[in-house]
Amino acid sequence: MDILFERKSCRSYVSAPIPQQDLDYILHAAMSSPSAMNTRPWHFIVIKDKETHSKIMQIHRASQMLANAPLGIIVCCDIEKQYKNYWQQDCAASTQNILLAATAKGYGSVWCGIYPIEDRVKAFAELMNLPENIKPFSLVVIGKKAEEPKEKQRWEPEKIRYEKWQ
Ligand SMILES: Cc1cc2nc3c(=O)[nH]c(=O)nc-3n(C[C@H](O)[C@H](O)[C@H](O)COP(=O)(O)O)c2cc1C
Repeated sequence: MDILFERKSCRSYVSAPIPQQDLDYILHAAMSSPSAMNTRPWHFIVIKDKETHSKIMQIHRASQMLANAPLGIIVCCDIEKQYKNYWQQDCAASTQNILLAATAKGYGSVWCGIYPIEDRVKAFAELMNLPENIKPFSLVVIGKKAEEPKEKQRWEPEKIRYEKWQ
């Protein structure tokens, strides 16, 4: 389980393509996430087209790392399939699985938020021709790392309590 600690956001890529076998592994991981009542309401749009990448970078200012990356995956939800409004948790779990699977295969990745920023949701829905029931949740950029992201130390024992707050 070292990949949990190895995963770091990568914002610098080389454009080498990702073999379909690796992409399928990553998408299989995305579909293997927990979801409320096992509704699995997610859908995935894989975007390799550089023109579309440029359009995405215009509508999502914090996604400029797409410029050199081979692909981005938009995690979407069919809100008609969700259970009790849990769709954001379902899609977050799926997004995290994508990041971990990419790490396991040696790729860099970064989660770029879409939902709940209203203008981004609207712009992605238009760009991707999404039907009304399909909501864009996140954009995950994946690719071969141009450089290794910095090491991080995240063990914060002061954030742990046992049994009750105090
Ligand atoms: C909901 C969410 C939205 C995020 N949106 C962006 C983004 O738009 N652009 C970006 O470069 N990183 C984005 N990140 C990545 C965070 O900046 C990153 O996870 C955080 O700085 C911790 O670094 P680490 O991923 O290396 O542990 C997002 C992360 C989350 C969970």
